Amino acid sequence: PRHFALVPAAGNGVRLGSQTPKQYLPLAGRPMIWHALSVLCRQTRIAQVYVVLSAGDAWWAGYDWSSLGDTLRPVFCGGATRAESVVNGLAAMAGELAEDDWVLVHDAARPCLSPILLDALLNALADDPVGGLLALPVADTLKRAHAEAGSLAGVADLGGQPNQAAPRRCNMPHGAQAPRVAATVTRDGLWQAQTPQMFRYGLLRTALAAAPRGVTDEASALEMAGYQPRLVPSELRNFKVTYPADLALAELILAGSR
Ligand code: CTP
Ligand code: MG
Repeated sequence: PRHFALVPAAGNGVRLGSQTPKQYLPLAGRPMIWHALSVLCRQTRIAQVYVVLSAGDAWWAGYDWSSLGDTLRPVFCGGATRAESVVNGLAAMAGELAEDDWVLVHDAARPCLSPILLDALLNALADDPVGGLLALPVADTLKRAHAEAGSLAGVADLGGQPNQAAPRRCNMPHGAQAPRVAATVTRDGLWQAQTPQMFRYGLLRTALAAAPRGVTDEASALEMAGYQPRLVPSELRNFKVTYPADLALAELILAGSR
């Protein structure tokens, strides 16, 4: 089976709050998305790298991507949500793919993926019938908040709901009441999902088609279809750039890996 990458890059970066969509903000002298694409394009086991851009994307054409080689395939079919962009991207790739080919879905907003982590994912899943994802064992003590009036459901959101307030360094909206602790949740066995998430094309397409709206990653869709994706140990460096303060950390990591 061959390997294909699919990079959803049709978001607006509302939580980051810049005029330019965050995937085009400069990091270490290149647009953020260049770094994410570069690791995928340099991996010779990956045959083609599809990039899902929004139909009205006015930035992509403004850069020279030739340094990334000839496996790059921009497609202008982004959807209203990340999940929709992934489904649309898969449809655009369909002609190239066999059922048991691999698709690696990777966020444009994770510029600090390293070749070592990508190799670890490819190696760990090589003989797997389903697939899996890079993920990080949880390091912090976890608290569940009371769902009381005044607390905010959005505080726990990872799915991309924008803040109503101006973008901040923390996703606690200004003036929101600090909720009370209902319980401490053991972190044993808990992992944070990252990308790339790597699945057999046939299973991924069928699972995404059957998944309810609001599913935030590919693995969840596979889980709902009854599969058990593998968790491949990752590193903090492969975090998702979401808030303004994340830019400085990404810059630091990229400066250290050149
Ligand atoms: N994405 C996409 N299509 C969308 C929304 C998001 O392709 N309609 C992509 C983003 O470009 C990003 C990845 O999905 O590479 C992860 O999403 P996220 O970090 O939430 O980015 P944004 O949606 O752009 O940011 P925000 O949620 O703060 O608006
Ligand atoms: Mg989002």
